[in-house]
Amino acid sequence: TPRVFSGIQPSGDLHLGNYLGALKRFADAQDKGVQSIYCMVDLHAITVWQDPADLKRSTRELCAGFIASGIDPDKSILINQSQVPEHAQLAWVFNCVARMGWMGRMTQWKDKAGKNAEAASLGLFAYPALMAADILIYHATHVPVGEDQKQHLELTRDIAAKFNHDYGVDFFPLTEPVIEGAATRVMSLRDGSKKMSKSDPSDASRINLTDNADTIAKKIRKAKTDADALPSEVDGLKDRPEARNLVNIFAALNDQTVEQVLADVGGQQFGTFKPKLAELAVAKMAPISTRMAELMADEAEIDRILAHGATQAREITAPILKKTYEIVGMVG
Ligand code: TYM
Repeated sequence: TPRVFSGIQPSGDLHLGNYLGALKRFADAQDKGVQSIYCMVDLHAITVWQDPADLKRSTRELCAGFIASGIDPDKSILINQSQVPEHAQLAWVFNCVARMGWMGRMTQWKDKAGKNAEAASLGLFAYPALMAADILIYHATHVPVGEDQKQHLELTRDIAAKFNHDYGVDFFPLTEPVIEGAATRVMSLRDGSKKMSKSDPSDASRINLTDNADTIAKKIRKAKTDADALPSEVDGLKDRPEARNLVNIFAALNDQTVEQVLADVGGQQFGTFKPKLAELAVAKMAPISTRMAELMADEAEIDRILAHGATQAREITAPILKKTYEIVGMVG
């Protein structure tokens, strides 16, 4: 049976890349009748130091972001990772299945640890094994993510396959990454060669889910572009990363393909296109920031949703952990 799982880190502000690459796609898929679990991965967040008060606020704000983006806690299971202890328990088993060499090849590890890997946390190195556990503790079959998570999902399959092989079982499924749509890699508004990210020091490089209408419009007006008119065909976006990015964003926000957008706006200058994009972005994003603020006014309600989600989740995770321990040979 198909089951969807995905996670987002509660560290820093949610941005348009998280929205188009993940949240919006979760909301769009919600009514397809597939059981879905969405997770705030607080255990992943602490692989780099987080101020404790900020982590709490970010976790609740992320939960508000899920709901404001259209994920309904009555239809999908919303959880905070540390409240479902089987994630961390399975991760330990996977730490013993995964190989050091596999982890060392992860580009995210190399990027985040940088030149001083000796000083990185052990958790940062083991990060992908916890991610595999997040997914496989549900026997999830489909994982919708942005392009940047692809390598981690391949590793998840490797871990499942090695576990099954080492123990002679057919227990963990090989998960399918779902990387679809026009905006699986949203780029910085200041530099079309860089991914839009929470860690970019320039706030103008991204649209945050908490930005108000004025800020959203201003950031789009100031977004970097080239001097040419927009092409009518996708081929014409080749070697124009900033133009491509803005067209991708327009398509994803408006539920269109890039071809459809270019059929409408081909030939236009950015002076004409940008105000349209700003208007669209404000129409789609500003209500989310308003709704998030409303939800954040009632923390007790957010905590109740997460507690309920954890109870629902553990009905799935507890039996899978028990069976895993049995396969591995734990007495109990
Ligand atoms: P995180 O928190 O960095 O990002 C959350 C989701 O947003 C997507 N995303 C983007 N999509 C398009 N363009 C961008 N610029 C962009 N930036 C981020 C990410 O691809 C992701 O889908 N390791 C994960 C969290 C995680 C997870 C999991 C995901 C932990 N366990 C299990 C799936 C399944 C991460 O750090 O995502």
